[in-house]
Amino acid sequence: MSTLQADRVSIETGSTEETIRVGARLGEALRGGEFLALTGDLGAGKTHFVKGVAAGLDIDPKSVTSPTFLLIHNLDGRLPLVHMDAYRLKSGEELAEAGAADLQDGESVLVLEWAGNVPDFVPSDAL
Ligand SMILES: Nc1ncnc2c1ncn2[C@@H]1O[C@H](COP(=O)(O)OP(=O)(O)O)[C@@H](O)[C@H]1O
Ligand SMILES: [Mg+2]
Repeated sequence: MSTLQADRVSIETGSTEETIRVGARLGEALRGGEFLALTGDLGAGKTHFVKGVAAGLDIDPKSVTSPTFLLIHNLDGRLPLVHMDAYRLKSGEELAEAGAADLQDGESVLVLEWAGNVPDFVPSDAL
Protein backbone atom coordinates (compact mmCIF):
# COMPACT_ATOMS: atom_id res chain seq x y z
CA MET A 1 0.00 0.00 0.00
CA SER A 2 1.33 3.41 -0.85
CA THR A 3 -0.19 6.86 -0.45
CA LEU A 4 1.05 10.27 -1.49
CA GLN A 5 0.01 13.30 0.49
CA ALA A 6 1.68 16.68 0.13
CA ASP A 7 5.40 15.98 0.77
CA ARG A 8 4.78 12.77 2.66
CA VAL A 9 4.87 9.27 1.24
CA SER A 10 3.71 6.27 3.25
CA ILE A 11 4.77 2.75 2.23
CA GLU A 12 3.75 -0.29 4.25
CA THR A 13 5.90 -3.42 3.97
CA GLY A 14 5.05 -6.92 5.13
CA SER A 15 8.47 -8.56 5.25
CA THR A 16 12.17 -7.82 5.54
CA GLU A 17 12.49 -8.52 1.81
CA GLU A 18 9.92 -5.83 1.01
CA THR A 19 11.60 -3.35 3.34
CA ILE A 20 14.95 -4.06 1.68
CA ARG A 21 13.37 -3.59 -1.75
CA VAL A 22 11.93 -0.18 -0.79
CA GLY A 23 15.31 0.84 0.62
CA ALA A 24 17.01 -0.33 -2.57
CA ARG A 25 14.71 1.75 -4.80
CA LEU A 26 15.65 4.79 -2.73
CA GLY A 27 19.32 3.82 -2.75
CA GLU A 28 19.31 3.59 -6.55
CA ALA A 29 17.99 7.15 -6.78
CA LEU A 30 20.57 8.71 -4.45
CA ARG A 31 23.16 11.01 -6.00
CA GLY A 32 25.32 11.78 -2.97
CA GLY A 33 25.03 14.33 -0.19
CA GLU A 34 21.71 13.03 1.09
CA PHE A 35 20.99 12.56 4.78
CA LEU A 36 18.47 9.86 5.68
CA ALA A 37 17.06 10.20 9.20
CA LEU A 38 15.55 6.93 10.45
CA THR A 39 13.24 6.76 13.46
CA GLY A 40 11.22 3.93 14.99
CA ASP A 41 11.51 1.58 17.95
CA LEU A 42 13.93 -1.31 18.33
CA GLY A 43 12.98 -3.90 15.70
CA ALA A 44 11.08 -1.41 13.52
CA GLY A 45 13.20 -2.41 10.52
CA LYS A 46 15.62 0.52 10.31
CA THR A 47 18.70 -1.63 9.78
CA HIS A 48 16.93 -3.76 7.14
CA PHE A 49 15.97 -0.56 5.33
CA VAL A 50 19.66 0.44 5.34
CA LYS A 51 20.54 -2.97 3.87
CA GLY A 52 18.28 -2.02 0.96
CA VAL A 53 19.81 1.44 0.61
CA ALA A 54 23.22 -0.26 0.52
CA ALA A 55 22.06 -2.66 -2.20
CA GLY A 56 20.88 0.34 -4.24
CA LEU A 57 24.40 1.76 -3.91
CA ASP A 58 25.98 -1.53 -5.10
CA ILE A 59 27.09 -2.50 -1.59
CA ASP A 60 26.58 -6.05 -0.31
CA PRO A 61 23.62 -5.78 2.10
CA LYS A 62 25.31 -8.40 4.29
CA SER A 63 27.99 -5.86 5.14
CA VAL A 64 25.32 -3.71 6.84
CA THR A 65 25.05 -4.64 10.50
CA SER A 66 23.64 -2.80 13.46
CA PRO A 67 26.21 -0.09 14.27
CA THR A 68 24.86 0.38 17.80
CA PHE A 69 28.27 -0.23 19.35
CA LEU A 70 30.31 1.29 16.56
CA LEU A 71 28.50 4.64 16.16
CA ILE A 72 29.74 5.02 12.59
CA HIS A 73 30.24 2.37 9.93
CA ASN A 74 31.74 3.39 6.55
CA LEU A 75 30.89 1.38 3.46
CA ASP A 76 32.08 1.91 -0.09
CA GLY A 77 29.82 1.54 -3.08
CA ARG A 78 28.70 3.61 -6.04
CA LEU A 79 28.79 6.37 -3.41
CA PRO A 80 30.28 6.21 0.10
CA LEU A 81 27.63 5.13 2.61
CA VAL A 82 28.01 6.31 6.20
CA HIS A 83 25.81 4.24 8.50
CA MET A 84 25.35 5.79 11.94
CA ASP A 85 23.36 4.87 15.04
CA ALA A 86 22.38 7.22 17.85
CA TYR A 87 20.68 4.58 20.03
CA ARG A 88 22.98 5.28 22.98
CA LEU A 89 23.32 9.01 22.42
CA LYS A 90 21.60 11.98 23.98
CA SER A 91 23.16 14.63 21.75
CA GLY A 92 24.88 14.82 18.41
CA GLU A 93 28.16 15.90 20.01
CA GLU A 94 29.56 12.37 20.13
CA LEU A 95 28.76 11.85 16.46
CA ALA A 96 30.40 15.15 15.57
CA GLU A 97 33.44 14.21 17.67
CA ALA A 98 33.59 10.83 15.93
CA GLY A 99 33.99 12.73 12.67
CA ALA A 100 30.48 12.32 11.31
CA ALA A 101 30.06 16.04 10.63
CA ASP A 102 33.11 15.95 8.31
CA LEU A 103 31.38 13.28 6.28
CA GLN A 104 28.67 15.69 5.08
CA ASP A 105 30.86 16.24 2.06
CA GLY A 106 28.21 16.34 -0.65
CA GLU A 107 29.26 12.94 -2.01
CA SER A 108 28.64 10.57 0.87
CA VAL A 109 25.17 9.33 1.75
CA LEU A 110 24.59 9.59 5.50
CA VAL A 111 22.06 7.32 7.18
CA LEU A 112 21.29 7.74 10.86
CA GLU A 113 19.31 5.26 12.95
CA TRP A 114 17.58 6.70 16.04
CA ALA A 115 17.72 10.19 14.51
CA GLY A 116 15.11 11.36 17.05
CA ASN A 117 17.72 11.05 19.83
CA VAL A 118 19.95 13.70 18.24
CA PRO A 119 17.70 16.25 16.50
CA ASP A 120 20.52 18.83 16.69
CA PHE A 121 22.59 16.63 14.38
CA VAL A 122 19.91 16.14 11.72
CA PRO A 123 20.00 18.70 8.88
CA SER A 124 16.74 20.45 8.08
CA ASP A 125 16.66 18.99 4.56
CA ALA A 126 17.07 15.40 5.79
CA LEU A 127 14.84 12.77 4.25
N1 LIG B 1 8.22 -5.47 7.28
C1 LIG B 1 9.35 -5.68 7.97
N2 LIG B 1 10.48 -4.99 7.64
C2 LIG B 1 11.62 -5.17 8.35
N3 LIG B 1 11.76 -6.01 9.39
C3 LIG B 1 10.68 -6.74 9.74
C4 LIG B 1 9.44 -6.61 9.05
N4 LIG B 1 8.55 -7.45 9.64
C5 LIG B 1 9.20 -8.08 10.63
N5 LIG B 1 10.49 -7.67 10.71
C6 LIG B 1 11.48 -8.14 11.71
O1 LIG B 1 11.78 -7.02 12.52
C7 LIG B 1 13.19 -6.95 12.80
C8 LIG B 1 13.75 -5.63 12.33
O2 LIG B 1 15.10 -5.56 12.74
P1 LIG B 1 16.04 -4.34 12.39
O3 LIG B 1 15.99 -4.03 10.94
O4 LIG B 1 17.35 -4.65 13.00
O5 LIG B 1 15.30 -3.16 13.19
P2 LIG B 1 15.89 -1.84 13.85
O6 LIG B 1 17.17 -1.51 13.15
O7 LIG B 1 14.80 -0.82 13.61
O8 LIG B 1 16.07 -2.13 15.31
C9 LIG B 1 13.85 -8.14 12.10
O9 LIG B 1 14.10 -9.13 13.05
C10 LIG B 1 12.81 -8.60 11.10
O10 LIG B 1 12.84 -9.98 10.93
MG1 LIG C 1 19.12 -1.03 13.87
